[in-house]
Amino acid sequence: MNNSNTNSRRSFLKKGALAAIGVGVLNSLTANELYAGTVNGNLEMPPVDGAFELPKLDYAYGALEPFIDAKTMEIHHSKHHQTYVTKLNEAIEKAPELKGKSLMELVANINAAPESVRTAIRNHGGGHFNHSFFWKLMSPDAKNTTASAELTAAINAKWTSMDNFKVEFAKSATGVFGSGWAWLIKDKENNLSLTTTANQDSPIMDIAAMRGKPILGIDVWEHAYYLKHQNKRADYVADFWNVLDWNQVSKWFMEL
Ligand SMILES: [Fe+2]
Repeated sequence: MNNSNTNSRRSFLKKGALAAIGVGVLNSLTANELYAGTVNGNLEMPPVDGAFELPKLDYAYGALEPFIDAKTMEIHHSKHHQTYVTKLNEAIEKAPELKGKSLMELVANINAAPESVRTAIRNHGGGHFNHSFFWKLMSPDAKNTTASAELTAAINAKWTSMDNFKVEFAKSATGVFGSGWAWLIKDKENNLSLTTTANQDSPIMDIAAMRGKPILGIDVWEHAYYLKHQNKRADYVADFWNVLDWNQVSKWFMEL
C-alpha cells in the first residue's frame, strides 16, 4: 500500500471512529483511531526504509539565545535525541513485526509491543516523539506569536487568564521530581488539562495515567537546561515562554 492510500485509509478510519462515538473522552478510542493519520501533522514521521531518523531543526542551535543556549541545543539535539533514535531503531531490529509502523503507532501502543522490546520502545520511542514535538514548539520568532482566539478561550475557561495558566503550568513543570515532562493536553472536545510524565513517557501512550493529545510540553530533564540554568529549573521554565511558538500550539489545538 502506498503512502497516499495509507493516509486515505487512516483518515477514513479516524473520521469513522469519531463519527461512531459522537462525544466521549480520549480513552474511548483506540490508540490507532486517535493517533494514526494526520493527528499532530508532521510528527507522524514514518520510518524511512525501516529506520527512524533524527529530524532537522527549523532553526540554528544558537537561534533561541539567550533563553536556551546554543551548546545545550546542540548536545540535546545531536546527542540526546540522536541516541533515542538510534536505540529505537535497534529495538525495532530485534522485533521485525514492528518495522514500518509510524512513530505515533509505536508510542501510542506500548502494551502491544513485544515484551522483549517494550521498555526500549517506551523509553526511546517516547524520547524520539517527545523531542520531535518539543523542537517544533519553539521558534526564534516566538515573540511575534500569540494564542489563537479559540485556544485563548479554552485556556481562560479553565484557568481564568493566560497569566494564571502560565503560573499553573510552571508549577507543574517545576514540580516534576527527577527527569520528565510537563504537558498541556486536550481531549477531543478541546477540554484542556495539565499533566506530567516521568522519564520519556508521553501523554499519547496507552500506559499514560492521564491520556490526551499534547499541544504544549516542556522537557524538564536536566540535560535541557543545566548548562545555562544549573539547578534553577524555574528560571528555565520562565525563559521557555520567550521561545514558545503559540502559532504551533494553536495549530495543534485545532487539529483532531
Ligand atoms: Fe531532552
